[in-house]
Amino acid sequence: MNTVPTTMRGAYLPGNSSVVFRDVALPAPGHGEVLIRTKSSTICGSDIRAIYREHLGKGPEGYQNKVAGHEPAGQIVACGPGLRRFKTGDRVIVYHISGCGVCNDCRRGYMISCTSEEHRKAYGWQRDGGMAPYILAEEKDLVLLPDSLSYTDGAQVACGFGTVYEGLEKIGISGNDAVLVTGLGPVGLATCMLVRAMGAEKIIGIDVLPERLQIARDLKLADDVFPAGPENVAQVRKLTGGHGVERAVECSANDKARLTAIQATRKWGKIVFIGEGGTCAFNPSPDIIHDQKTIYGSWVTSTWKMEELVERIVRWKIHPEQLVTHRFPLEKADEAYALMASGKCGKVAVCFDEELR
Ligand SMILES: NC(=O)c1ccc[n+]([C@@H]2O[C@H](COP(=O)([O-])OP(=O)(O)OC[C@H]3O[C@@H](n4cnc5c(N)ncnc54)[C@H](O)[C@@H]3O)[C@@H](O)[C@H]2O)c1
Ligand SMILES: [Zn+2]
Ligand SMILES: [Zn+2]
Repeated sequence: MNTVPTTMRGAYLPGNSSVVFRDVALPAPGHGEVLIRTKSSTICGSDIRAIYREHLGKGPEGYQNKVAGHEPAGQIVACGPGLRRFKTGDRVIVYHISGCGVCNDCRRGYMISCTSEEHRKAYGWQRDGGMAPYILAEEKDLVLLPDSLSYTDGAQVACGFGTVYEGLEKIGISGNDAVLVTGLGPVGLATCMLVRAMGAEKIIGIDVLPERLQIARDLKLADDVFPAGPENVAQVRKLTGGHGVERAVECSANDKARLTAIQATRKWGKIVFIGEGGTCAFNPSPDIIHDQKTIYGSWVTSTWKMEELVERIVRWKIHPEQLVTHRFPLEKADEAYALMASGKCGKVAVCFDEELR
């Protein structure tokens, strides 16, 4: 604990599908801040889409050449003055956006949509994130990680699982439901894992990549999987008595998959869009209005719901780290990002210390 170095090497994403390392001074935690020893830092599809391949994002998705990584979990090794709850030694997840704390969105716990241009900063985008041995974080952004969960379980809650939980809470999932998941990347796989825990009666997954269909099969996360194609709506209806699913969760951002999610949902059903970017074309009257369907959009989650999710994950005895197919040390972060960009993997994690196994 008292061997914190004065400098460290962090990974940055210059935007041409590569990773560069830079040495930086280790920051001392100021008022209300902590220094965290990073233990696990998982890679989100948004990093690939908006930063790694090229710097696409603007505003909240604008990458300002900071240490990358917005899904970190670790252990507090130093505390600044004025902390109210957390202390050295605590195992924590970092909710990946630091908001102003006083706008209406922050007061609801949705720091993701903090309206302060000056104070809203996402870890790994506008302030240093988890692809370094230490992270400076604000106490208000922390969620306590229970002892029964690993740091790699926790890292995935920081964005992926938290995001999925929020979307599922919006549409509601119960044992009455057959659920369609379009896109079986880490977010889609997390959806399968959580809807199974919530009691969904049948889970159907669709992806274009055979590797991802195979992971869903191997981990028994979906009951049926299909390669993406024009027959998907008919395939889903066939498995659901001709009706379609009660709930669909769109995790691909692909316009065709979005249409499938809408059309393969039955009357009165609910659909949530989580995959980001792109477009979606549908015919409102036949596709949603006459069938009384609802489409929700869902962006990340709130700090309190993330705490609730952590509690549920323990209760359900599930382990998000089950989705991690590859672990890399920080020095090999370039391989980690390249693998995640290829899609030939489940979740990819950059790990430190005991998490590097
Ligand atoms: N709404 C939010 O708050 C939020 C938060 C985190 C991530 N995201 C977004 O969620 C999406 C998924 O994230 P991820 O980490 O799993 O990324 P990912 O890119 O690994 O997953 C997307 C998956 O969709 C699949 N796909 C592509 N075309 C398809 C099609 N026609 N039919 C079915 N599947 C298709 C891809 O093969 C891939 O497996 C990304 O768009 C990401 O930016 C949104
Ligand atoms: Zn993310
Ligand atoms: Zn705010």
